[in-house]
Amino acid sequence: MERIDVVSPIGIHDIALATGHYALNLGELAERRGVDPGKYTVGLGQTTQTVPATDEDIVTMAAAAAKQIVAEHDAGNIRTVLLATETGIDQSKAAAVYVQDLLGLPSSTRAVELKQACYGGTSALQFAAGLVHRDPDHQVLVLTSDIAKYDVDSAGEATQGAAAVAMLVSADPAVAVLEPGSGLYTANVQDFWRPNYRSTPMVDGKLSVSLYLEAAEQAWKDYEARGGRAIEDFAAFCYHQPFTRMAYKAHARLLEVHGIGADQERLDADLAHTTVYNRLIGNSYTASLYVGLMSLLDHAEDLSGRSVGLLSYGSGCVAEFFGLSMVPGYRQRLRTAANRAAIARREPISYERYRAIRDFELPVDGSSKVLEADSAGPFRLRAVTGHSRMYEARHLIQA
Ligand code: CAA
Repeated sequence: MERIDVVSPIGIHDIALATGHYALNLGELAERRGVDPGKYTVGLGQTTQTVPATDEDIVTMAAAAAKQIVAEHDAGNIRTVLLATETGIDQSKAAAVYVQDLLGLPSSTRAVELKQACYGGTSALQFAAGLVHRDPDHQVLVLTSDIAKYDVDSAGEATQGAAAVAMLVSADPAVAVLEPGSGLYTANVQDFWRPNYRSTPMVDGKLSVSLYLEAAEQAWKDYEARGGRAIEDFAAFCYHQPFTRMAYKAHARLLEVHGIGADQERLDADLAHTTVYNRLIGNSYTASLYVGLMSLLDHAEDLSGRSVGLLSYGSGCVAEFFGLSMVPGYRQRLRTAANRAAIARREPISYERYRAIRDFELPVDGSSKVLEADSAGPFRLRAVTGHSRMYEARHLIQA
């Protein structure tokens, strides 16, 4: 198979993670649901799930992730903020505008929100590369931020979670080059969707799993048909992880399509590093694939000069398979300690408190509500008044 040469060094220059304030133990959830804990911890591959505090949302998480990047780079070079989410807070105004303001980015910035279920973040990454290709001095802040929330006592409840990943996309990136070429697949299907009047999705869980697998296979085949790398060329693989076992199912399908045995040992060797963070955070929709990438980079051996294959899936559905080529020395740019700390400092939450947060509602009648401080991150939702969300930046004293 002819190898792809990287002709345009455009890609991820920096990458940072944020998650929510609380962590619910799935053992406790299993007990409450009368389910064997092994179904969640082994069958789904989840140990805990992030539960955002009442004063957190996709804006506060995205801003918390992006703040780490903006603190280290010249914000004046960021000309575009693309925020991908499927838990938007407004039907019209982009959440990216709130983040641009909270970060103090110049007004000479473009700020937009993108949506296609969990795939939206990958579309933002690809569109960002196009903007940088057009003007190599242009940097794009790509934000993926989501809160995965299902009906209480539904099958999806064990796959909830929340996180944001921020990526700075630039020319001559320090972390990973986006390889040219990708495999695409789109099909109009109803496996998971959320009508405007609902706060939780409609989901056909079994159908969504089989459509994910079919979409992954078709995206891979399109990638191959367009002269993509051979499967053996990839040093590692990352998959969208609604629950970590889904990555195992998808990788097994990929190996089987290529006539490669997919035993547990091979799957663990290929995937274990990518699932460490997602197992603790849960699903984070648009962010999930990139949380998996960060988990891989923070735990794997040095992948400098090697390629990582990524499979992005968004219900409804769109899938894309593409490659990242790791830039030599990329490990010095990782935030491994900060990523681990963001996950470790989550406060364990009781089932009762989890249910109270689920029952908490912001006003929808235009009345005012000032929110008590519940979270501890750098940004919080302070109030809702006149149908508007008011955020505040905290000035945290670094330990
Ligand atoms: N010990 C170990 N394993 C056990 C077990 C036990 N005691 N009890 C059950 N299991 C295993 C089952 O055998 C099963 O494994 P396999 O899939 O390998 O057969 C696994 O645990 C799950 O059990 P069920 O299939 O019976 O679980 P379920 O039907 O109650 O729910 C689900 C699973 C459908 C995925 C559900 O969690 C759900 O609807 N989730 C939301 C939708 C979702 O995540 N879809 C994924 C693809 S769509 C996508 O990726 C987009 C997105 O982000 C949403």
